[in-house]
Amino acid sequence: MRREEGLSGAWGVIDLVQALTAALDAKSSYTRGHSDRVAELSWSIARKLGLGDQEAESARIAGHLHDIGKIGIPDSIISKPGSLLPEEFAAMKRHPVIGASLVKQVAHLSGFAPSVRSHHERWDGSGYPDGLAGEAIPLEARIICIADSFDAMTSARSYREQIDAQSAVDEMRRCSGTQFDPRLVDAFAQLFSTGKLPLMLRIEEQVNAEDVLPSYAETQ
Ligand SMILES: [Fe+2]
Repeated sequence: MRREEGLSGAWGVIDLVQALTAALDAKSSYTRGHSDRVAELSWSIARKLGLGDQEAESARIAGHLHDIGKIGIPDSIISKPGSLLPEEFAAMKRHPVIGASLVKQVAHLSGFAPSVRSHHERWDGSGYPDGLAGEAIPLEARIICIADSFDAMTSARSYREQIDAQSAVDEMRRCSGTQFDPRLVDAFAQLFSTGKLPLMLRIEEQVNAEDVLPSYAETQ
């Protein structure tokens, strides 16, 4: 995290976010590095959309925090190799709500609760936990959704090979208007085609099964 680019007067926020994400990383090697990459991607997407420094930095912090609710999910599910059983997937799907309630209790982080809660919503309203659709989904959450999905697809899994970045962008285009905000897909595709995605994303790591795009998983 780049402290020098933090929200003005936000050193306390940065420290809190680092402490929370360190706790999540300690719990699961599967998520290690994932939140950092989602944070940097989210910042890049926000800037590509023309958002200001403070909004972009907010998107970055929200990216760091997006999966913090996994702290409340049993280790047996978080670290399970392979696909989750339906009841395990149902438990995993609680993490946005857990995460939002967690950050809501921290005064300096409470403003990130809506983004944490809504990062698995889908543009067509078929996501969770609230079934929000379109612009009813907070913009920051829509940004994180793009970053999260790209990183999930381009990361190695225990039960399938990762796909390359171009294939991931193609898949996101296929899901534009259903899973993703079309305007954000366009912005992301432009970042990719102009070589402006953060290169730290090429680190190969495993992340959790719940991050797999259902539409992509169905094709495997
Ligand atoms: Fe998540």
